[in-house]
Amino acid sequence: MKPNEQAIGIFDSGLGGLTILRAVKKLMPKENIIYFGDTAHSPYGSKSKETVAEYSLNIAKFLESKKVKLILVACNTASALALPVLKRHIKAPVLGVIEPGAACAAKVAINKKVTVLGTEATVKSKEYIKNIKKLDKSIAVTQYACPLFVPIIEEGLAGSDICKLAIKRYLTPLKTDKADTVILGCTHYPVIKEDIAKFLGPKVTLVDSAEEIAKRAKEALLRAGLLKTGGKSSTQIYASDLSERFARLALNIIGGKKLKVKENRFYI
Ligand code: DGL
Repeated sequence: MKPNEQAIGIFDSGLGGLTILRAVKKLMPKENIIYFGDTAHSPYGSKSKETVAEYSLNIAKFLESKKVKLILVACNTASALALPVLKRHIKAPVLGVIEPGAACAAKVAINKKVTVLGTEATVKSKEYIKNIKKLDKSIAVTQYACPLFVPIIEEGLAGSDICKLAIKRYLTPLKTDKADTVILGCTHYPVIKEDIAKFLGPKVTLVDSAEEIAKRAKEALLRAGLLKTGGKSSTQIYASDLSERFARLALNIIGGKKLKVKENRFYI
């Protein structure tokens, strides 16, 4: 296999990272992709740094065993808690989602007020605040954990009454912050982006890091002379706990008619 034909590895705790996969496929349609959803251990957002780092490293090693040329950590929680460990132990280049999301928000925040929505672990890590302040100290950042969003999305309840209630419950306090930019600091949240946008109104710009990380990935591959621009492409999806629901919801996110999901129980 030629080096540029090696796949891009992408992982998340479950379905959320597929919003990144979707952006990567759109920008680089000829790339081969291997996706891993750690459904057996989802959600990550309520777990400790040590646990998330261990799960993430196991997945990255699995992707490395598949000879991927680049790994995208398509999970804010894993990016916040495990990126240094991954960079230390994995030979392939590793990109996280937080820095690209922070950069995007700093660019579009006209009133210099940014709100971050994320898992408990991402919020606790303060990684978004650190990354935004590095770019522009004058931006005020508030954060809110929305722990029910991930299980609601993994259950296929996006758009339901329960989902709308959770949005109301978590996002009502945002109205007093008056931030014009809200970061969807969890890769699951773009699945309920429309409902969030409806609740927050048209004056708020929602930022998700999908396009930005896809752009960064393309630049990194171009720089390394590893971009694949022709030939057939394949997308393989692995889940650590496979269910028919996962396959169905995955298809909703990435489109298409049929999806072969590969089960992998290598470390359970
Ligand atoms: N998509 C993950 C993230 O971006 C979800 C975390 C979770 O499993 O709680 O943080």
